[in-house]
Amino acid sequence: MKKIVIGIDGYSSCGKSTLAKQLAKELNYVFVDSGAMYRAITLYFLRNRINWDNIDEVRHALQNISLDFAYNAALGKSDMLMNEENVEAEIRDMIVSEKVSQVAAIKDVREFAVAQQQKMGEKKGIVMDGRDIGTTVFPKAELKIFVTAAPEVRVQRRFLELVEKDASITLEDVKKNLEMRDYIDSNREISPLRKAEDAVVLDNSDMTREEQLQVALEWVNEKIAWRM
Ligand code: DC
Repeated sequence: MKKIVIGIDGYSSCGKSTLAKQLAKELNYVFVDSGAMYRAITLYFLRNRINWDNIDEVRHALQNISLDFAYNAALGKSDMLMNEENVEAEIRDMIVSEKVSQVAAIKDVREFAVAQQQKMGEKKGIVMDGRDIGTTVFPKAELKIFVTAAPEVRVQRRFLELVEKDASITLEDVKKNLEMRDYIDSNREISPLRKAEDAVVLDNSDMTREEQLQVALEWVNEKIAWRM
C-alpha cells in the first residue's frame, strides 16, 4: 500500500500529538513531534544562557546541537534526544514552555529544525505534528489536518497533564501560557501558525480520542485509495 505524508497543525494543546500518535500506531508510520525539537533547542539555550537576541550567539549555539528521536517501546512513542541526552521530560517543563515560542520565532532556528524535519519525510510513511507542517515543512503532504478545540477544553487538558508533575501549577498559569504561545506562534514573521488552504479541519472539543481517530482514518483511507 502506498505510504503518504500526514501533517497535523493547530494551536497549543488541542490534541495534535495525541492524534498523530494514534495515526502512526494504526498505520505503522513514523510519528514526529516537531514541537519537541523547538523545545529541546530552547532547553539548550536556557541551560547555556544563550542570548537569543544575538544572532551570532544563536548561530554558534545551533552548531553545537544535535537532535534525535529514540523509540521508547514502553510508551510506544519516541523520546527527544539532545546531544545524545534524553530530555523528553525536561522539555515539557513550564520554564521551557514559557520561552519556546520566542525561540521558535527565530529564522535560523526554524531553518535548522525544518531542514531536519523535511529529511525525515523523504521516505513518506510519516505523521508529523506542529504549527507549520502543512504550510512550510510538507506543503505537498497528501493529507493535512488542522486540529482545533475550544480554548477552555485546551486549558483543562494541558492543566491535567502538568498538574500530575507539579501540583503547584494553576489553571490560570496554564491559560496565560497557552494564550501567549498562540499569540506569538500566529503572529511571528516566519511560518506563522496558519491553516493550509488544503487542510481539513478537525474540531475535537466534543470528541473522544477514539472518535477523532475514526474521523482522521476515514480521511487517510480516502487519500490512500485515491493514490492507488
Ligand atoms: O507542540 P508544542 O506545544 O510542544 O510546541 C512548542 C512550541 O514550538 C510552540 O509554542 C511553537 C513551536 N513550534 C513551532 O513553531 N513550529 C512547529 N512546527 C512546532 C512547534
